[in-house]
Amino acid sequence: MKFFIDTANLEQIKEAQDMGILDGVTTNPSLMAKEGITGTNNILKHYVDICNIVDGDVSAEVISTDFDGMVREGEALAELHEQIVIKLPMIKDGIKACKYFSDRGIKTNVTLVFSPGQALLAAKAGATYVSPFIGRLDDISTDGLNLIAEIRHIYDNYGFETQILAASVRHTMHVIDCAKLGSDVMTGPLSSITGLLKHPLTDIGLEKFLADYKKGN
Ligand code: E4P
Repeated sequence: MKFFIDTANLEQIKEAQDMGILDGVTTNPSLMAKEGITGTNNILKHYVDICNIVDGDVSAEVISTDFDGMVREGEALAELHEQIVIKLPMIKDGIKACKYFSDRGIKTNVTLVFSPGQALLAAKAGATYVSPFIGRLDDISTDGLNLIAEIRHIYDNYGFETQILAASVRHTMHVIDCAKLGSDVMTGPLSSITGLLKHPLTDIGLEKFLADYKKGN
């Protein structure tokens, strides 16, 4: 399973990249605003800064909601850097724009996906990635992980190549469960990745190994 980090914070992206396990980055307008990145030029520059830190795909989201606007914005984003993936909302014009870009060999990520039917449409439109938001479903007492399982089942039935990018991942158990269910990618905060390192028996064991080494030296 590929690990993407879901942030626009350059320090956190660097930290995950330095671990050697990072496969890409996802961003959205809210994450940009959280870092205080506002204004089109600053946002575009920030995407390039992110691409210069990581080796993999970097999702950059359009803010237009009509087909022409999405195509215009998406083409400008794709020009920025070869690692840019055009992130499009799961609405009718977003699906149309997804088909437009996939027909031209430009990578896409269909975002704000909350149902298997939406994921089926994204795959039919040739999306590179589909982003089911599992945390936001959990927030409203609906099993987000079940959506990953349903999409996996449907995609496997027909051999769709669209990669399932489990989004809105909130914690380590989401990451582990996504891996069990066969999600292709997960995107989450740095804490959902570094949390995987932790086990008290590792800490206790390491402490004892080091203490025993010292006894003999
Ligand atoms: C997906 O690409 C989104 O950026 C993201 O995962 C949303 O997560 P949230 O529900 O924690 O805001």
